[in-house]
Amino acid sequence: MKDVTNIDEVISPEDLALALQAIASSPGRRVAPIELSGRRLWIKRFDVEPLAFAKRLHWLVSPVLYPPFLRGSAPALGEAGVERECNRIAAFRGAGFRTPSIIYRNGAMLVLSDVSPVLTDGLAAASEPHRQALLLKLFAALGQMHSAGLVHGRPHLRDMSLYNGEICFFDFEEAPETTMPLADAQARDLWLVLLPVVALERDETKCRALLRVWLDTAPVEAVMALSRFVGFVRPLLVPARLLPKALQGGDLERFLGAARFLVGANSDMDSAIAASGQRTASQQVES
Ligand SMILES: Nc1ncnc2c1ncn2[C@@H]1O[C@H](COP(=O)(O)OP(=O)(O)O)[C@@H](O)[C@H]1O
Ligand SMILES: [Mg+2]
Repeated sequence: MKDVTNIDEVISPEDLALALQAIASSPGRRVAPIELSGRRLWIKRFDVEPLAFAKRLHWLVSPVLYPPFLRGSAPALGEAGVERECNRIAAFRGAGFRTPSIIYRNGAMLVLSDVSPVLTDGLAAASEPHRQALLLKLFAALGQMHSAGLVHGRPHLRDMSLYNGEICFFDFEEAPETTMPLADAQARDLWLVLLPVVALERDETKCRALLRVWLDTAPVEAVMALSRFVGFVRPLLVPARLLPKALQGGDLERFLGAARFLVGANSDMDSAIAASGQRTASQQVES
C-alpha cells in the first residue's frame, strides 16, 4: 500500500504509472534515473543488492571496536532503508538543508527528484579556482549541518551535489550516531570527506583552509572527537612509513594521506578548541 508520509512533490498518475513500469522492466537495478514529462527522477530500490559481507562483518564486530569512531551502524535493508532515508531527508529539510524531494515511496522503493550534478562530477568539471570555491562551500555546509546537530553518515562526494548553488545531501545509508556519540559521528563525517579531498587536492595549504572552515562552524565536541581520533592514528603512521608503496592499496594510501594531513593540522584543531573555551568564558563573564 502506498505510504504518503513525507512525500513533498506531486507526481501525476500517468507519470507514476510510467515510473512503476520502468521499475518492473528492470527489477535487478538498485538505482536508476528515469526521464518523465521533461524532468529526471531517480528510482531507488532497497531490496535489490544484499548487504556486502564486509559491511555485515563490520557491524558484527562493532560492539568491541575501540575507539567508537571505528564502529559501523545497523544495516537498514528493504523498507527500513526507505524509512532511514526519508527520516534523514525530513530532518535535513527541517533544519533548512537541501535534499532531493521525495516524489513517491512504497515498501522498499523510493522515487526522488534529481539534484545533479553530484560533487564528483562538479569537481571533475571545475577549473582550479572554482574547485577550491566548491570545496569551501562543502566544508562550510558540513560545519553548519553538524552545528545543527545532524550527521550525514556516509558522505561520499558522489552522494552530495551542488544544486541551485547550494550543497545538497542524500544517500543516508548509515546512522553512526546510533553506535557512537554524536560528536564522534560528526567527526567521522568530516574524516570520510577528507579521505577523497586530501587525495584529490594534495596542496596542504588549501586543505588547511578547507579544514578551518569546518573548524569555525562545527561544534567544539566534534572538533575534540576529531582531535582524539588523530591521537589514535598518529602512532600508526610510523610503522605505516615502513610499508612499501607497492603494498599500499588505494584505500590505505587515502587513509594515510588524510591521517598525515590531520596530524599536521593538529594546531588548527587545538586553536579551535581554545577559541571555543575563550568564547564560553567571556559569555559566562557577560551573563
Ligand atoms: N536524487 C539524485 N539526484 C542526482 N543523482 C542521484 C540521485 N540519487 C542517486 N543519484 C546518483 O546515483 C548514485 C547512486 O545512488 P545512491 O542513492 O547513492 O545509492 P547507493 O546506496 O547505491 O550508493 C549516486 O551516487 C548519484 O550519483
Ligand atoms: Mg551512494
